[in-house]
Amino acid sequence: MNKLVMATNNANKLREAREIMAPLGIEVLSLKDMAIDCDPDENGSTFAENARIKAEAVYKAAAGKTGANTAVFADDSGLCVDALGGRPGVHSARYAPKGEECAKLLGELEGTPDEERTARFVCSIAFLDETGAHSEVSGVCEGKIGYEQRGTNGFGYDPVFMYGDRTLAEMSSEEKNSISHRGAALRALYELLKERYGD
Ligand code: IMP
Repeated sequence: MNKLVMATNNANKLREAREIMAPLGIEVLSLKDMAIDCDPDENGSTFAENARIKAEAVYKAAAGKTGANTAVFADDSGLCVDALGGRPGVHSARYAPKGEECAKLLGELEGTPDEERTARFVCSIAFLDETGAHSEVSGVCEGKIGYEQRGTNGFGYDPVFMYGDRTLAEMSSEEKNSISHRGAALRALYELLKERYGD
């Protein structure tokens, strides 16, 4: 395998995946690189299901475009807060209007004591090889929801997600990638690909 399509056009996700896969000599292509316009309904009840829905849609679209089967992978991620029974979970992107998710979460957790503010980011990756065979890897980042928004880096829930005594929004992107759910899932994918395709 020398080409792998990542089911995203997000420049940050793409850069991170390219950096991690570089030692394998595999070229990671975006949807834009493949001229694929694909936005399937992510109606699964788990991150893994949603990642697979995305990966299968892109696999079909890529085969339709090029007439040849190409390996693809898709990621799906979100935040699970214990005091909210795992919410927002697979609904993380739709929990609140962009930019308002942290304030809403802090509001929901008002009065929740420190020891009950545990939470985790989860990232699931679905990989389909050239034959369409499916594999799944995932990564988790354990932390706590703080009491105020801190830091200006990152996106989404980063300003309220405490990893130790800092939020993810107070970390550089390199530092965050080294401990994040997505970084862990991408490194697990790297290991899987190395085992299968490495020399
Ligand atoms: P997606 O899987 O990249 O579409 O992410 C789904 C949603 O989960 C995002 O819109 C964010 O709200 C949240 N999320 C996922 N990963 C992160 C992260 O690393 N930091 C902050 N929020 C995240």
